[in-house]
Amino acid sequence: MLSSEELKRFVNEAKKVAKDGEVATYIPELGKANPNDLAIAIYYPDGSFVSAGEVHKKFTLQSISKVISLALVLMDRGYDYVFERVGMEPTGDPFNSIAKLETMVPAKPLNPMINAGALVVTSMIKGDTVEERFQRLLNFIKELSDDDTVEFNESVAQSEFETAHLNRALCYFLKQHSIITEDIEQLMDLYTKQCAIEMNCLDLAKIGLVFAMDGVNPLTGKQIIPREIARICKTFMVTCGMYNASGEFAIKVGIPAKSGVAGGIMGAVPGKYGIGIFGPALDDKGNSIAGIKLLHLLSKNYKLSIF
Ligand code: DON
Repeated sequence: MLSSEELKRFVNEAKKVAKDGEVATYIPELGKANPNDLAIAIYYPDGSFVSAGEVHKKFTLQSISKVISLALVLMDRGYDYVFERVGMEPTGDPFNSIAKLETMVPAKPLNPMINAGALVVTSMIKGDTVEERFQRLLNFIKELSDDDTVEFNESVAQSEFETAHLNRALCYFLKQHSIITEDIEQLMDLYTKQCAIEMNCLDLAKIGLVFAMDGVNPLTGKQIIPREIARICKTFMVTCGMYNASGEFAIKVGIPAKSGVAGGIMGAVPGKYGIGIFGPALDDKGNSIAGIKLLHLLSKNYKLSIF
């Protein structure tokens, strides 16, 4: 097991690249983050953990929530229903790209990690009202993180709701092609709340650990996500989790991982660890620049690549 002294050294080393990144500002509230923050927690199956940096700082999940909503809709609707509406292929394009949608027949998004695909996934969350659907997702996240205090950040949700013109455009295109059928403002309400679910890197590492342990909470033995669905989610994390940086990340780091524009990265080292990282300075692909560096250092020094 890594000592927290060692981990601190890796954090200090990785922090040096934070100055080459920038915090996201297209969601105005995210622009308030401190670009020099860098925190990590690593959870082990026996419930112990190591951590370093600003571990108690909370951040919003943003795109990391896409893996969790995918798990929930696969449990809700089953494999065939979900993959009739969203594909399984990486795009090589940025996370919010609209370019490939028009070239696809049928017009379904290429995968559930890009915004177009995630919006379709969120539209599949079951429930009668936005509130009920959101609470189902939130309760699922509370169970995965073993923390029933998890909530969403209202200012971040509101800030995205007011500015998400491109996401609305993606939704309207998909509605034209009957991939999305619900009211778009309602879907944007649900999606922006989903992305604004907030926690610290300790909670995120616990969720990563459930994926790493094939859907089981190792401390309680409870199967929270069916094994097959956890496998599908981890595969998407490898092929699409870092968007158009997924190939390079697979070669350099080789850990199933999912990033978010608030600077979070969730990692799942199969059978071994859950990793939660927070570093809000982003590279030009929208991934935490110091977070990736930190994972690179860990993977190289401890041979964590799954390949
Ligand atoms: O839809 C959006 O643009 C954001 N709520 C989430 C995007 C995101 O996190 C991309 N990740 N790096």
